[in-house]
Amino acid sequence: MLEQQDRLWVESVIQKLSNKMNWVSEKSREKIPYTTKDGTHDDRSADNPSGYDADGICWWTNGFWGGMMWLMHHETGEERYREIAEISEAKLDACFEQFHGLHHDVGFMWLPTSVANYRVTGNRESRKRALHAASLLAGRFNVVGSFIRAWDDLEEGDTRGWAIIDCMFNIPLLYWASKETNDPRYRQIAERHADTVMETFVRPDGSVHHIVEFDPFHGGFVRAHGGQGYGDGSSWTRGQTWGLYGFMMSYRHTGNEKYLQTAQRIAHYFIANIPESGIIPIDFRQPKEPAYEDSTAAAIAACGLIEIANAVGELERDMYLRPALKLLRRLDESRADWSESSDAILTHGSAAYHNPNRHTSIIYGDYYFMEAIFKLKGGDLYLW
Ligand code: GLY
Repeated sequence: MLEQQDRLWVESVIQKLSNKMNWVSEKSREKIPYTTKDGTHDDRSADNPSGYDADGICWWTNGFWGGMMWLMHHETGEERYREIAEISEAKLDACFEQFHGLHHDVGFMWLPTSVANYRVTGNRESRKRALHAASLLAGRFNVVGSFIRAWDDLEEGDTRGWAIIDCMFNIPLLYWASKETNDPRYRQIAERHADTVMETFVRPDGSVHHIVEFDPFHGGFVRAHGGQGYGDGSSWTRGQTWGLYGFMMSYRHTGNEKYLQTAQRIAHYFIANIPESGIIPIDFRQPKEPAYEDSTAAAIAACGLIEIANAVGELERDMYLRPALKLLRRLDESRADWSESSDAILTHGSAAYHNPNRHTSIIYGDYYFMEAIFKLKGGDLYLW
């Protein structure tokens, strides 16, 4: 699929990834990192590891470090990466003692850890964990509104009717659970949620809302909320990528063309808005200055675009592959830290437009960058 010069570049990035992960994995062996402080990984499993702490052990990003370790295990065959992945997977067991703190994000947490472990090693304990997580996710389905509820808030803001685009990335856990148990319920819920998102989140220009509020008692659209983007009606770039790549995964799991077409619609909107520089802003509708950016959105978009490139015919392939390469090359050239002064790879990640900690390292930026590079190489381990 790649031209010679792109293949050589991919090989060079894999070499840099291997060099970096060789020492970072040992240094952060016992951690579950989210970001870095003065170049050193923090540890979300260190604070209150067994009690309720939505920002600690139950934090939604706690599967990505394990996912990176499984990708490296697949790439190198080295057992130590499997061991490190299993350390973080075992730590996540504390979350099953909670109810609050476990949201729609359980796919992000248990697909790259327990499902990965089960797929690679056949570990039955991992299968059990992943089925528990899938059942939690299925239990969030609102039957009348046909959506998966995002968060559990009630007293401080009522989110009983809220669904978010990010959940498109969690429902692959349901597709997996149906295949694994031969029980169609999980997949039925995933497809009904995906259909609702297709009808209500995707705007006429192909962009997507971050949050849509439904009436939790009678169903039906109430309003959209701005969420992590610039504001109401704006276009949070990472949300675009959860839609783009998320629908692509629903296509991959179901073979239903409508999901591929929806992924393509969002991709066309995204591609049309990629700036000449290849640097992705936090929101496509944010003011020009300050020029806030989000490297994580670039990495996730690249993964989704490569998936679409692999699914469409040869004539259309470059339309998706070229922008993906542009994003990834730009990240490698100017938004990646290959030195030993930081445990993270990507710089310039941003959790949300109005979060003051902009332009930091965030673990899922590193995860999706790695996934995209291994996708380009081919023969990758697919975790979703
Ligand atoms: N809530 C998921 C994200 O920040 O992308």
